[in-house]
Amino acid sequence: MASMKVLGIESSCDETGLALYDTERGLLAHAVHTQVAMHEAYGGVVPELASRDHVRRLIPLLEKVLADAGATRGDIDAIAYTAGPGLAGALLVGASFAESLAVALDVPALPVHHLEGHLLSPLLGSEPPAFPFIALLVSGGHTQLMRVSKVGDYELLGESLDDAAGEAFDKTAKLLGLGYPGGPALAKLAETGVAGRSKLPRPMLNSGDLAFSFSGLKTAVLTAVRKHEMSDAEKADLAAEFQEAVTDVLAAKAVAACRQHRLSSLVVAGGVGANRRLRQKLDGALAKIGGRVYYPEVELCTDNGAMIAFCGAQRLMQQALPDRGDGAFAIRPRWPLDELRAQASS
Ligand code: KG4
Ligand code: ZN
Repeated sequence: MASMKVLGIESSCDETGLALYDTERGLLAHAVHTQVAMHEAYGGVVPELASRDHVRRLIPLLEKVLADAGATRGDIDAIAYTAGPGLAGALLVGASFAESLAVALDVPALPVHHLEGHLLSPLLGSEPPAFPFIALLVSGGHTQLMRVSKVGDYELLGESLDDAAGEAFDKTAKLLGLGYPGGPALAKLAETGVAGRSKLPRPMLNSGDLAFSFSGLKTAVLTAVRKHEMSDAEKADLAAEFQEAVTDVLAAKAVAACRQHRLSSLVVAGGVGANRRLRQKLDGALAKIGGRVYYPEVELCTDNGAMIAFCGAQRLMQQALPDRGDGAFAIRPRWPLDELRAQASS
């Protein structure tokens, strides 16, 4: 197949991301606009504001990505977009933009699963892991361990029974009076504190399976916060202990998954994958079993269009004759990743 250029569009939450990926030359350009500053005043993402902002950003970002790549609209061979999971309104903006641009350019439109994008994002790096591998997906909405046999073949091994790791970071940050988004702020505060001074549990560390639970940690932090007025130093110590607790459990279960499946490559994707302490622990643990951890490039850890374009390109290369869309489409705000396989083969 001759090389193809795939435009990727991400708009599932509070980032508008666009990218142009070439199946031979790799990533040509990508650009992200984050709405963090806009949602900050509200302490979290306001869905309606998110949707409206995506509308404003899509065309300027498209122009920027094309200019940076030295390409024009006519060079686009296919358009991949995030069809779910995510905020319904935000997804609709990206999906309707992508589908209408695809009709206008007479190219196929490819709906992409947001988590599959995260999952495959380390493959965009200079030293991509070989299949099969174990993937630890740690985002704001999901905490999952998966066995990845090839593109499109994902077996869910375990996931969070309640809050996702990122969600736990965000909620705990809020309890400690930190701004939104909480994860990076909490991680920063944790660096100035000492873990172990106030003990927190390691939920499900010894549960014998690959499931997680993080909502109890948040409650333990709430209890500590309510007990007495905490000094800044005490808050930093609690943040450090919280980070230790979450990363202890994540690292232990990721290694357990590798051992159980006799795999030595671990891929880490999703926003929490940017956490330095988590990376230290995973690198150390995998080195011990003669394995290696693969991360996406730092700028591709959080939501972006490059992972969506890449994912779309993989799908395109798997299909003999992709459909020319008729403009009809559906978004899936809730969309379990293991339903993908069924969809791919239907
Ligand atoms: O993958 P992502 O950008 O968006 C979702 O698809 O959810 O992940 C965002 C999540 C947020 O919960 C954010 O607080 C968390 O990732 N996060 C972090 C760090 N950077 C981002 N959590 C802990 N430490 C970090 N350094
Ligand atoms: Zn994400």
